[in-house]
Amino acid sequence: MSFEYISGSLHWDNTDLSGLTENIAQLLKEKYAYTGAYYLYNTDIFLQRASLFEKYFPDDYFYYSVKSLSNIHFLSHLSHKEQFGTDVVSSGEMVRAARAGFQGERIVFAGVGKTAAEIQLGIDMQIHSFHVESLAEIRLIGQISSDIQKNARISLRINPDVHVDTHKHITTGKEENKFGLALKEIPAALDLIKSFSHVSLVGIQSHIGSQILDHQPYLNTLGKLTPIAKEIEKTGFPLEYISLGGGFGIDYKQNPYSKKIPEEFSLETLSNGLHAFRPLPWKLYFEPGRFISAPSGVLITNVTYKKDKNGFSIAITDAGMGDLMRPALYGAVHPIFPVREKHQISKVDIAGPICESTDYFSRQTESPELSEGDRLAILHAGAYGATMGSIYNTRPLIPEVAFDHTGTISVIRRPQTLDELLTLEMQ
Ligand code: LLP
Repeated sequence: MSFEYISGSLHWDNTDLSGLTENIAQLLKEKYAYTGAYYLYNTDIFLQRASLFEKYFPDDYFYYSVKSLSNIHFLSHLSHKEQFGTDVVSSGEMVRAARAGFQGERIVFAGVGKTAAEIQLGIDMQIHSFHVESLAEIRLIGQISSDIQKNARISLRINPDVHVDTHKHITTGKEENKFGLALKEIPAALDLIKSFSHVSLVGIQSHIGSQILDHQPYLNTLGKLTPIAKEIEKTGFPLEYISLGGGFGIDYKQNPYSKKIPEEFSLETLSNGLHAFRPLPWKLYFEPGRFISAPSGVLITNVTYKKDKNGFSIAITDAGMGDLMRPALYGAVHPIFPVREKHQISKVDIAGPICESTDYFSRQTESPELSEGDRLAILHAGAYGATMGSIYNTRPLIPEVAFDHTGTISVIRRPQTLDELLTLEMQ
């Protein structure tokens, strides 16, 4: 997976993005009278990244984190891979996964705030497991399952209290986070589970954070979970699996001029480190999202205006923070490059059209000189891009387009129309 300029045109692996985006611009215009920004995905990369898990963990299972990139196009591709299931966090994602071809037994349901309606749906769909995060949630699942006399499979999401080096907004495995059960709550959780007729405990899980580059915290987590799993089994609960969650990070700095090997999470190193624990008496699960989806997508946007300031300029794009929220929300940095190469470098801020002072994609950085009408690619935007989109400022959701090595271009989500957006408010 790489970006480079060849003959002045940005190439994504072997695909010439200036040619491809020209064709897509025409297609969107003719078919939908649409001329704005859109997400562009490379389906081959998505599948290659997924198969890296199959390669390095041939005996394990992967519950793909739907929230990272949830388009049915990708989920249905994944559904053909036997080692893959889905990790969902809402009834919306549960139904989405089912529509894409995942039966309930291939769905795990995480989240601190599952509602009664969501629990009922999960039980009806006979999902693989609820990853429970509190004693109160166990009580609610226990009650609902005995009321309707149907079995609910659950796993304890345990907060392992391990240190992880990542952005403070996306760490989850520390004691102070809202996620998971504290270690000292486990005995009470087990007592509670015993008191319900239709709840079975099938596993334990931890998710320690996101965009993690070091394999060691995963080994530390497994080191903590293994004795816990043994203790739980001694109290009469045979377990099927341990899930180590997701969080495998990518190299957001990779760009057309960086010739370095990507500094991303090494699945190979983790795989080697795990040998010390194998054979494990339980199945091992992972819940990757970003590692698979981030490198599979870019956001294509056009420069609408250029404003000259004192010593720098601002390029205003037709995409905004409602379309890609990560820079505004986390200060995340995504490399931005014109699809037609520019050799002159200058100080350009790149900002969206939304009425918010944080609506910037990049600030005070050196960038290729930009002009009105330039088409830009915002890189590594496949994860937590489209899925975090919002209609703030009454801006409809932008389309998603996928291509692959066969040359097929598919509009996998058409542009939302203003009528569709407003119709919910019509009396
Ligand atoms: N499993 C659980 C229980 C999770 O909460 C998450 C992500 C994952 C798996 C997948 O993590 P991944 O492999 O994608 O890192 N919006 C933020 C990231 C939020 C992650 C939430 N949990 C961002 O844009 O960086």
